[in-house]
Amino acid sequence: MKASPMPSEGNTPPAPRPPAPTRVLSGIQPTGRFHWGNYFGAIRQYIDLQTAGEAYYFIADLHALTTVREPDRLRALVHDAAVDLVSLGLDPDHATLFVQSDVPEVTELTWLLMTVTPMGLLERCHAYKDKKIRGLPADAGLFTYPVLMSADILAYDATVVPVGEDQVQHIEVCRDLAGTFNHLYGDVFTLPKPRLVEGGGRVPGTDGQKMSKSYDNTLDVFEDPAAQKKKIMRITTDSRPMEEPKNPDDDHLFALYSLMAPEADRAKMADLYRRGGFGYGEVKKALVEASAQFFAEARARRASLEADPERIEAILTAGAERARAKAGDVLDRARRACGLARGKAGKPAAAGKTAGKGSRA
Ligand code: ADP
Ligand code: TRP
Repeated sequence: MKASPMPSEGNTPPAPRPPAPTRVLSGIQPTGRFHWGNYFGAIRQYIDLQTAGEAYYFIADLHALTTVREPDRLRALVHDAAVDLVSLGLDPDHATLFVQSDVPEVTELTWLLMTVTPMGLLERCHAYKDKKIRGLPADAGLFTYPVLMSADILAYDATVVPVGEDQVQHIEVCRDLAGTFNHLYGDVFTLPKPRLVEGGGRVPGTDGQKMSKSYDNTLDVFEDPAAQKKKIMRITTDSRPMEEPKNPDDDHLFALYSLMAPEADRAKMADLYRRGGFGYGEVKKALVEASAQFFAEARARRASLEADPERIEAILTAGAERARAKAGDVLDRARRACGLARGKAGKPAAAGKTAGKGSRA
């Protein structure tokens, strides 16, 4: 074939790009006060990863709209989530903390992805499927939730997405959509990888089931200490006699204690279980003590942040600005690639965007 004498920008293959830097991203829904399961299963990992590379964390208010229908409550939940995250150690000097809806670029990107999303893929996604099986009404927001989540991830060229087990399916959807888009239009999106939480994978609630707002069995991170003590003292335990030796690894009270207590205390408590001759009341008291210590610093930080609402607003405003700059670049790349930007053909090479390139899951 004759080579074109003057290759247009659109026909020039993108220049090879340097390897992608680690870019961590995750979102958390502001659907209620954070409980210990949220902390050990998600938030702690965000905080650990905020120094691993560039980090973006956001409060997923657009996702929350599928369940929270009271505007004032939603606003309060978003503010509280931001206060909680910063109190727990999310450092706005290291990580970009922002509110999902402050970045409208993401909703446009959602549409672009929607046009390459097979219905069948969404029909298999569990949030929608579970509702359908239970005969509950589902709206299109819930149905297309994984596409918005994909846009959340792709808009920031994220390479690593720390999530709980329940969200892994959505990351697979994201990789799938990004792969299809790239196949059709060129190398536009970075394919992310999920990072599963280690350890606190399944924090038990006060009844021994998985801790969840839906089961009303939570211990909240910033609960009033007296109310929390009452809840802890009422944690269900088995009714074996005090003298009987017990296996600590079978006991949800011990599991909770292990999350909170320093290693030496945990080992001592495990020994007590194995020897028997102690009461669960003692373990509960020790848990009250250990959790008070564990979250003491965060509580103090929360008290000062609560007294200074402008500080949180300033953090979120600065975060949104940084997030929009990044998402704007990615959206521009996607618009050009699929033919939306008139007179701006081409697939401009984006800096450092190769993680998982072409390696579809
Ligand atoms: P809930 O079940 O209370 O509604 P969410 O679904 O809002 O909690 O949880 C947000 C994230 O917190 C989840 O993706 C998961 O990573 C983590 N998480 C929630 N509950 C637990 C738990 N009991 N153990 C470990 N992680 C949890
Ligand atoms: N769907 C996630 C949850 O319910 C929250 C979320 C929204 C998210 N967008 C995201 C998590 C992007 C990681 C990446 O927990």
